[in-house]
Amino acid sequence: MRLVDAKRDQYRRLAKKEGYRSRSAYKLLQLDKTYHILRPGYVVVDFGSAPGGWLQVTSEKIGRNGLVIGIDIDPIKPISENIHILVGDVLAPETKDELLKLLPRKADVILSDLAPDVTGVWQIDHLRQIDLASKVVDLMPDLLRRGGAAVMKVFEGEETNRFHHQVRGVFEKVFTAKPPASRGQASEMYLVALGYRPPS
Ligand SMILES: C[S@@+](CC[C@H](N)C(=O)[O-])C[C@H]1O[C@@H](n2cnc3c(N)ncnc32)[C@H](O)[C@@H]1O
Repeated sequence: MRLVDAKRDQYRRLAKKEGYRSRSAYKLLQLDKTYHILRPGYVVVDFGSAPGGWLQVTSEKIGRNGLVIGIDIDPIKPISENIHILVGDVLAPETKDELLKLLPRKADVILSDLAPDVTGVWQIDHLRQIDLASKVVDLMPDLLRRGGAAVMKVFEGEETNRFHHQVRGVFEKVFTAKPPASRGQASEMYLVALGYRPPS
């Protein structure tokens, strides 16, 4: 078995054992351990949240006084009371208003694990993924509070630098991270962005 497959299997088994809906849950757990992004009472928006591993992790970290809104094209089975689920397309114009209706205030954190259905042609998959991530950054002025944080998946490729630049323009600090649970996926990484500065 290739090392990358073994890594995936290891986290898949662990997720099953610990009751997480996806092995992706460990990517967020590992990122949060390093960057301390999620805190009790926080309001969080999670883009691309099916089947719900990141929602489970976020729900545990923010506790009963927090709220996480998860959005995905695919439906998500209900998880717990501090999670609201919105079925919708991030790229659709009505999504912003639907999110605004659910948010009690601007979010403290925005998460995006958005990824398109892969075609197998990396350049196409990369460009589609960056389009999704850029859309999340475009929505931030309405959704994320000043000083807030974001975690965003990035499929690496020719547009990575431009996207990184876009994110650096609106956050005080931006880190590039490859959590151990992500090592089975050679061309993906995460941007952890701290200290949101909305464009004036
Ligand atoms: C890697 S999965 C997310 C896994 C999730 N973080 C978890 O822990 O279970 C990527 C998700 O992005 C969603 N997605 C892709 N394009 C989307 C779009 N335009 N709008 C909303 N969700 C989208 C997919 O349906 C898929 O569920």
